Amino acid sequence: MTLTPPPNITGHTRVYGMIADPIAHVRAPMVFNPVFEERGIDAVMVPLHITPDILEPAMQSLASVPNFGGVCVSIPHKMKLAAICDELGLAARLTSAVNAVRFDQGKLIGDNFDGKGFVAGLLGEGIALTGKKLVMIGAGGAARAIAAAIAETDAASLTITNRTLAKADEIVAMLAGLENTPDCNTIALADLDQVLADADIIINTTSLGLHEGDDLPCDLAAAKTEAVVADIIMIPAVTDWMKVAEARGLRVHAGRHMLDYQRDLMGLFLNMWNEE
Ligand code: ATR
Repeated sequence: MTLTPPPNITGHTRVYGMIADPIAHVRAPMVFNPVFEERGIDAVMVPLHITPDILEPAMQSLASVPNFGGVCVSIPHKMKLAAICDELGLAARLTSAVNAVRFDQGKLIGDNFDGKGFVAGLLGEGIALTGKKLVMIGAGGAARAIAAAIAETDAASLTITNRTLAKADEIVAMLAGLENTPDCNTIALADLDQVLADADIIINTTSLGLHEGDDLPCDLAAAKTEAVVADIIMIPAVTDWMKVAEARGLRVHAGRHMLDYQRDLMGLFLNMWNEE
Protein backbone atom coordinates (compact mmCIF):
# COMPACT_ATOMS: atom_id res chain seq x y z
CA MET A 1 0.00 0.00 0.00
CA THR A 2 1.37 3.44 -0.92
CA LEU A 3 0.87 6.07 1.73
CA THR A 4 0.61 9.71 0.75
CA PRO A 5 2.89 12.08 2.72
CA PRO A 6 1.12 13.78 5.65
CA PRO A 7 -0.17 17.26 4.86
CA ASN A 8 1.58 20.23 6.40
CA ILE A 9 -0.69 20.71 9.41
CA THR A 10 -0.24 23.85 11.54
CA GLY A 11 -2.31 25.75 14.07
CA HIS A 12 -4.00 27.53 11.15
CA THR A 13 -5.22 24.35 9.45
CA ARG A 14 -8.98 23.92 9.04
CA VAL A 15 -10.15 20.42 9.89
CA TYR A 16 -12.83 18.33 8.18
CA GLY A 17 -14.03 14.85 9.04
CA MET A 18 -15.29 11.82 7.16
CA ILE A 19 -17.67 9.90 9.39
CA ALA A 20 -18.62 6.26 8.93
CA ASP A 21 -18.95 2.95 10.78
CA PRO A 22 -16.96 0.90 9.84
CA ILE A 23 -14.37 3.49 8.82
CA ALA A 24 -11.54 1.60 7.09
CA HIS A 25 -13.14 1.62 3.62
CA VAL A 26 -13.74 5.38 3.33
CA ARG A 27 -12.23 7.16 0.34
CA ALA A 28 -13.02 10.83 0.99
CA PRO A 29 -9.69 11.67 2.74
CA MET A 30 -7.84 10.34 -0.32
CA VAL A 31 -10.12 12.40 -2.54
CA PHE A 32 -9.96 15.72 -0.66
CA ASN A 33 -6.45 15.86 0.84
CA PRO A 34 -4.68 15.75 -2.55
CA VAL A 35 -6.96 18.59 -3.74
CA PHE A 36 -6.01 20.68 -0.68
CA GLU A 37 -2.37 20.08 -1.50
CA GLU A 38 -2.74 20.81 -5.23
CA ARG A 39 -4.64 24.02 -4.61
CA GLY A 40 -2.55 25.18 -1.62
CA ILE A 41 -5.55 25.08 0.72
CA ASP A 42 -4.65 24.93 4.43
CA ALA A 43 -7.11 22.18 5.36
CA VAL A 44 -7.08 18.49 6.17
CA MET A 45 -9.70 15.75 6.14
CA VAL A 46 -9.41 13.00 8.74
CA PRO A 47 -11.41 9.78 9.12
CA LEU A 48 -13.59 9.74 12.24
CA HIS A 49 -14.92 6.39 13.36
CA ILE A 50 -18.27 7.51 14.75
CA THR A 51 -20.57 4.72 15.89
CA PRO A 52 -24.34 5.29 15.76
CA ASP A 53 -24.66 5.55 19.57
CA ILE A 54 -22.41 8.63 19.70
CA LEU A 55 -23.47 10.29 16.45
CA GLU A 56 -25.55 13.11 17.93
CA PRO A 57 -23.24 14.16 20.80
CA ALA A 58 -20.18 13.82 18.55
CA MET A 59 -21.70 16.06 15.87
CA GLN A 60 -22.93 18.64 18.39
CA SER A 61 -19.47 18.79 19.98
CA LEU A 62 -17.59 19.01 16.68
CA ALA A 63 -19.98 21.70 15.43
CA SER A 64 -18.96 23.87 18.37
CA VAL A 65 -15.23 23.59 17.55
CA PRO A 66 -14.31 26.82 15.68
CA ASN A 67 -11.69 25.31 13.35
CA PHE A 68 -13.78 22.23 12.45
CA GLY A 69 -15.55 22.93 9.14
CA GLY A 70 -17.87 19.96 8.72
CA VAL A 71 -18.07 16.34 7.67
CA CYS A 72 -18.62 14.06 4.73
CA VAL A 73 -21.08 11.34 5.70
CA SER A 74 -21.13 7.66 4.83
CA ILE A 75 -22.96 4.52 5.93
CA PRO A 76 -24.80 4.17 8.32
CA HIS A 77 -25.21 7.85 9.26
CA LYS A 78 -26.84 9.44 6.20
CA MET A 79 -30.45 9.30 7.43
CA LYS A 80 -29.95 9.67 11.17
CA LEU A 81 -27.74 12.71 10.68
CA ALA A 82 -30.29 14.27 8.30
CA ALA A 83 -32.84 13.96 11.11
CA ILE A 84 -30.72 16.00 13.54
CA CYS A 85 -29.56 18.72 11.14
CA ASP A 86 -30.77 22.28 11.80
CA GLU A 87 -31.18 22.99 8.08
CA LEU A 88 -31.45 20.74 5.02
CA GLY A 89 -31.21 21.41 1.28
CA LEU A 90 -33.99 20.24 -1.06
CA ALA A 91 -32.28 16.98 -2.06
CA ALA A 92 -31.62 16.12 1.58
CA ARG A 93 -35.28 16.80 2.43
CA LEU A 94 -36.54 14.65 -0.45
CA THR A 95 -34.19 11.77 0.33
CA SER A 96 -34.13 12.19 4.14
CA ALA A 97 -30.39 11.64 3.75
CA VAL A 98 -27.25 13.79 3.86
CA ASN A 99 -23.77 13.11 2.55
CA ALA A 100 -22.21 16.40 3.64
CA VAL A 101 -22.85 18.53 6.74
CA ARG A 102 -21.38 22.01 7.25
CA PHE A 103 -20.85 23.36 10.74
CA ASP A 104 -21.95 26.97 10.93
CA GLN A 105 -21.66 28.65 14.35
CA GLY A 106 -22.78 25.51 16.12
CA LYS A 107 -25.50 24.70 13.56
CA LEU A 108 -25.59 21.61 11.37
CA ILE A 109 -26.43 22.39 7.74
CA GLY A 110 -26.85 19.26 5.62
CA ASP A 111 -27.36 18.37 1.99
CA ASN A 112 -27.20 15.41 -0.39
CA PHE A 113 -24.92 15.87 -3.39
CA ASP A 114 -25.62 12.67 -5.36
CA GLY A 115 -28.14 14.33 -7.66
CA LYS A 116 -26.39 17.68 -7.90
CA GLY A 117 -23.21 15.78 -8.82
CA PHE A 118 -25.10 13.94 -11.52
CA VAL A 119 -26.54 17.12 -13.03
CA ALA A 120 -23.18 18.93 -12.76
CA GLY A 121 -21.60 15.91 -14.46
CA LEU A 122 -23.96 16.17 -17.44
CA LEU A 123 -23.39 19.91 -17.78
CA GLY A 124 -19.65 19.55 -17.25
CA GLU A 125 -19.45 17.00 -20.04
CA GLY A 126 -21.29 19.35 -22.39
CA ILE A 127 -24.76 17.80 -22.14
CA ALA A 128 -27.20 20.69 -21.77
CA LEU A 129 -30.51 20.23 -19.97
CA THR A 130 -32.35 23.34 -21.12
CA GLY A 131 -35.64 22.35 -22.74
CA LYS A 132 -34.66 18.66 -22.76
CA LYS A 133 -37.02 15.72 -22.21
CA LEU A 134 -35.59 13.37 -19.59
CA VAL A 135 -36.58 9.80 -18.84
CA MET A 136 -35.39 8.18 -15.63
CA ILE A 137 -35.54 4.47 -14.86
CA GLY A 138 -35.61 3.62 -11.17
CA ALA A 139 -37.11 5.26 -8.10
CA GLY A 140 -34.82 4.35 -5.20
CA GLY A 141 -32.62 6.59 -3.05
CA ALA A 142 -30.30 7.69 -5.85
CA ALA A 143 -33.28 8.39 -8.11
CA ARG A 144 -34.83 10.68 -5.48
CA ALA A 145 -31.64 12.71 -5.20
CA ILE A 146 -31.30 12.96 -8.98
CA ALA A 147 -34.97 13.91 -9.42
CA ALA A 148 -34.54 16.66 -6.80
CA ALA A 149 -31.55 18.04 -8.70
CA ILE A 150 -33.34 17.81 -12.06
CA ALA A 151 -36.31 19.64 -10.48
CA GLU A 152 -34.02 22.66 -10.06
CA THR A 153 -32.97 22.73 -13.73
CA ASP A 154 -34.70 24.18 -16.78
CA ALA A 155 -35.26 20.80 -18.44
CA ALA A 156 -38.65 20.53 -20.16
CA SER A 157 -39.82 17.30 -18.57
CA LEU A 158 -38.91 14.36 -16.38
CA THR A 159 -40.70 11.04 -16.84
CA ILE A 160 -39.94 8.41 -14.20
CA THR A 161 -40.52 4.70 -14.61
CA ASN A 162 -39.79 1.91 -12.16
CA ARG A 163 -40.49 -1.78 -11.58
CA THR A 164 -42.52 -0.63 -8.56
CA LEU A 165 -44.40 2.27 -10.14
CA ALA A 166 -45.80 3.53 -6.82
CA LYS A 167 -42.28 4.62 -5.82
CA ALA A 168 -42.00 6.70 -8.99
CA ASP A 169 -45.41 8.24 -8.24
CA GLU A 170 -44.16 9.14 -4.76
CA ILE A 171 -41.20 11.07 -6.19
CA VAL A 172 -43.46 12.98 -8.57
CA ALA A 173 -45.86 13.75 -5.71
CA MET A 174 -42.98 15.15 -3.66
CA LEU A 175 -41.84 17.39 -6.50
CA ALA A 176 -45.39 18.59 -7.14
CA GLY A 177 -45.18 21.16 -4.34
CA LEU A 178 -42.20 22.93 -5.91
CA GLU A 179 -42.34 25.89 -8.28
CA ASN A 180 -40.80 26.15 -11.75
CA THR A 181 -39.91 22.49 -12.06
CA PRO A 182 -39.84 20.60 -15.35
CA ASP A 183 -43.09 18.81 -16.14
CA CYS A 184 -42.87 15.65 -13.97
CA ASN A 185 -44.82 12.45 -14.57
CA THR A 186 -44.54 8.67 -14.42
CA ILE A 187 -45.09 5.84 -16.86
CA ALA A 188 -45.27 2.07 -16.42
CA LEU A 189 -42.17 0.18 -17.60
CA ALA A 190 -44.34 -1.75 -20.05
CA ASP A 191 -45.36 1.53 -21.73
CA LEU A 192 -41.89 3.08 -21.78
CA ASP A 193 -41.54 2.93 -25.57
CA GLN A 194 -44.28 5.56 -25.81
CA VAL A 195 -41.89 8.19 -24.40
CA LEU A 196 -38.50 6.78 -25.36
CA ALA A 197 -38.58 7.93 -28.99
CA ASP A 198 -38.96 11.51 -27.82
CA ALA A 199 -36.44 11.38 -24.94
CA ASP A 200 -33.26 13.48 -25.11
CA ILE A 201 -31.59 11.95 -22.05
CA ILE A 202 -32.32 8.45 -20.70
CA ILE A 203 -30.99 7.80 -17.20
CA ASN A 204 -30.58 4.49 -15.40
CA THR A 205 -30.69 4.84 -11.60
CA THR A 206 -31.53 1.20 -10.88
CA SER A 207 -28.94 -1.28 -9.70
CA LEU A 208 -29.32 -3.26 -12.95
CA GLY A 209 -25.88 -3.52 -14.52
CA LEU A 210 -23.95 -3.93 -11.28
CA HIS A 211 -23.83 -7.68 -11.68
CA GLU A 212 -23.00 -9.80 -14.68
CA GLY A 213 -26.11 -11.28 -16.24
CA ASP A 214 -28.43 -8.53 -14.97
CA ASP A 215 -31.35 -7.62 -17.22
CA LEU A 216 -30.93 -4.32 -19.06
CA PRO A 217 -32.76 -1.39 -17.38
CA CYS A 218 -34.73 -0.98 -20.64
CA ASP A 219 -34.64 -1.72 -24.32
CA LEU A 220 -33.16 1.17 -26.30
CA ALA A 221 -34.46 0.18 -29.73
CA ALA A 222 -37.03 2.99 -29.69
CA ALA A 223 -34.57 5.72 -28.64
CA LYS A 224 -33.69 8.42 -31.18
CA THR A 225 -30.10 8.59 -32.42
CA GLU A 226 -29.44 11.98 -30.76
CA ALA A 227 -30.41 10.63 -27.31
CA VAL A 228 -27.85 10.52 -24.50
CA VAL A 229 -27.83 7.36 -22.37
CA ALA A 230 -26.59 8.02 -18.83
CA ASP A 231 -25.87 5.38 -16.21
CA ILE A 232 -25.03 6.00 -12.55
CA ILE A 233 -23.34 2.65 -12.04
CA MET A 234 -19.63 3.19 -11.45
CA ILE A 235 -18.37 -0.38 -11.54
CA PRO A 236 -18.32 -1.63 -14.23
CA ALA A 237 -17.34 1.72 -15.78
CA VAL A 238 -19.15 0.72 -18.99
CA THR A 239 -22.32 -1.26 -18.29
CA ASP A 240 -23.92 -3.68 -20.75
CA TRP A 241 -26.70 -1.13 -21.24
CA MET A 242 -24.14 1.51 -22.20
CA LYS A 243 -22.56 -0.98 -24.62
CA VAL A 244 -25.96 -1.53 -26.27
CA ALA A 245 -26.37 2.25 -26.54
CA GLU A 246 -22.90 2.66 -28.04
CA ALA A 247 -23.58 -0.10 -30.54
CA ARG A 248 -26.64 1.88 -31.64
CA GLY A 249 -24.47 4.98 -32.05
CA LEU A 250 -25.94 6.81 -29.05
CA ARG A 251 -23.82 9.02 -26.82
CA VAL A 252 -23.21 7.49 -23.38
CA HIS A 253 -22.44 9.18 -20.06
CA ALA A 254 -20.73 7.09 -17.39
CA GLY A 255 -21.51 6.83 -13.67
CA ARG A 256 -18.13 8.09 -12.50
CA HIS A 257 -18.98 11.66 -13.53
CA MET A 258 -21.58 11.85 -10.76
CA LEU A 259 -18.87 11.25 -8.14
CA ASP A 260 -16.20 13.37 -9.81
CA TYR A 261 -18.44 16.42 -9.99
CA GLN A 262 -19.79 15.87 -6.48
CA ARG A 263 -16.36 16.50 -5.00
CA ASP A 264 -16.23 20.10 -6.18
CA LEU A 265 -19.82 20.83 -5.15
CA MET A 266 -19.23 19.37 -1.67
CA GLY A 267 -16.03 21.39 -1.32
CA LEU A 268 -17.94 24.59 -2.10
CA PHE A 269 -20.75 23.67 0.31
CA LEU A 270 -18.26 22.86 3.08
CA ASN A 271 -16.46 26.18 2.46
CA MET A 272 -13.26 24.33 1.56
CA TRP A 273 -12.72 26.48 -1.50
CA ASN A 274 -14.38 29.23 -3.50
CA GLU A 275 -15.98 28.97 -6.91
CA GLU A 276 -13.24 29.23 -9.53
P1 ATR B 1 -30.20 3.23 -4.47
O1 ATR B 1 -30.12 3.88 -3.12
O2 ATR B 1 -28.86 2.84 -5.04
O3 ATR B 1 -31.02 4.01 -5.43
P2 ATR B 1 -32.41 1.47 -3.92
O4 ATR B 1 -33.03 2.56 -3.13
O5 ATR B 1 -32.39 0.09 -3.34
O6 ATR B 1 -30.89 1.80 -4.23
O7 ATR B 1 -33.10 1.42 -5.38
C1 ATR B 1 -32.81 0.45 -6.31
C2 ATR B 1 -33.56 0.73 -7.61
O8 ATR B 1 -33.23 -0.31 -8.55
C3 ATR B 1 -35.07 0.71 -7.48
O9 ATR B 1 -35.63 1.56 -8.45
C4 ATR B 1 -35.39 -0.77 -7.80
O10 ATR B 1 -36.69 -1.00 -8.25
P3 ATR B 1 -37.88 -1.29 -7.18
O11 ATR B 1 -38.22 0.05 -6.60
O12 ATR B 1 -38.98 -1.88 -7.98
O13 ATR B 1 -37.30 -2.24 -6.16
C5 ATR B 1 -34.42 -1.00 -8.93
N1 ATR B 1 -34.14 -2.44 -9.11
C6 ATR B 1 -33.35 -3.20 -8.37
N2 ATR B 1 -33.34 -4.47 -8.84
C7 ATR B 1 -34.15 -4.49 -9.91
C8 ATR B 1 -34.57 -5.49 -10.85
N3 ATR B 1 -34.13 -6.75 -10.76
N4 ATR B 1 -35.44 -5.14 -11.84
C9 ATR B 1 -35.88 -3.88 -11.95
N5 ATR B 1 -35.53 -2.88 -11.09
C10 ATR B 1 -34.68 -3.18 -10.10
